[in-house]
Amino acid sequence: MARTVTILGLESSCDDTAAAVVRQGPDGAQILSSVVHGQGDLHSAYGGVVPELAARAHAEKLDICVMQALQDAGLTLADLDAVAVTAGPGLIGGVVAGVMCAKGICAATGLPLIGINHLAGHALTPRLTDGVEFPYLMLLVSGGHCQFLIAHGSDDFTRLGGTIDDAPGEAFDKVARLLGLPQPGGPAVEAEARNGDPARFAFPRPLLDRPDCDLSFSGLKTALLRQRDTIARDKGGLTRQDRADLCAGFQRAVADVLAEKSRRAIKRYLTQVPAAPVMAVAGGVAANATIRAALQDVCAQTGVAFVAPPLALCTDNAAMIAYAGIERFLTGARDGMDLSARPRWPLDRTSPAMLGSGKKGAKA
Ligand code: KG4
Ligand code: ZN
Repeated sequence: MARTVTILGLESSCDDTAAAVVRQGPDGAQILSSVVHGQGDLHSAYGGVVPELAARAHAEKLDICVMQALQDAGLTLADLDAVAVTAGPGLIGGVVAGVMCAKGICAATGLPLIGINHLAGHALTPRLTDGVEFPYLMLLVSGGHCQFLIAHGSDDFTRLGGTIDDAPGEAFDKVARLLGLPQPGGPAVEAEARNGDPARFAFPRPLLDRPDCDLSFSGLKTALLRQRDTIARDKGGLTRQDRADLCAGFQRAVADVLAEKSRRAIKRYLTQVPAAPVMAVAGGVAANATIRAALQDVCAQTGVAFVAPPLALCTDNAAMIAYAGIERFLTGARDGMDLSARPRWPLDRTSPAMLGSGKKGAKA
């Protein structure tokens, strides 16, 4: 690729306000800067993201993040080729704030505008970090999303399956709340589980009786609630060990289900006869060591390379949006000032939309 392209990316679809500059040159893509301003403190008292608070905070912080990203990159707006912005799916007030900010920059500078699907940003990250070639298999596992995709091209994805209720991160967060552990629940549950016996309590393995790649996590959370209440009734309260064993049992069940469904997704992916088969992961849940090890095992057994981008690029960030913008820019894609913010935007236009809305907005 002879041409050098430099793109500013903006992300504001959930509870992180982010801006980044990414450059694609003859030697590949390089992140020149990546600024993420989290809103955790703003929402911590409410047990979830409050959309109105999130939208206002994005509107306040976006331009500050943009200026910081340009400064960190040592560039000005005049050095850019385009502005890429998350245009959905997500919490609509935040998405609108990002789209308006990007339009303002483009209107003032004449730079081209490119609307990006947030999920495409996650799904294309293995190309940014590891130069992975199409087609590859992608597992998105975060607080808001859970789906298996085959990435054929920068705007060409097939969804093999996804959660029919909670996303796994959402389930970790709810379990933490049920056990009085802090938010975000994933790291807290993982830490407790280290001292726990995963075999002490029986947890179901939802949807393994179905041959497809769909998943379900809300039943695991309910199973844990029942076990918790039984212990509390019989013994008057939970000991530290009870809590650790519950966390370990829940985590083991999530890992088993993700591993088995990954095995099925890999089987379908391999029918595409990829030259160098790869399964990549993205999303905060991919940070979980037990889950990661289970996925790595499945990949090793099936002869598929396992790619896990660094955690800062697995969770929400704007470098992935800028990079997806580069891929779209190079295909000639441009948006006009009529670009609209979309609360729902399935990556695979041929699959039915995922039902339900998580604590972080529409599932897709
Ligand atoms: O990708 P992410 O930062 O944000 C979105 O959901 O978009 O993912 C956050 C989610 C939270 O639900 C959090 O509890 C979960 O990822 N998470 C984990 C771990 N670290 C973060 N879940 C399980 N184990 C972890 N170590
Ligand atoms: Zn995300």
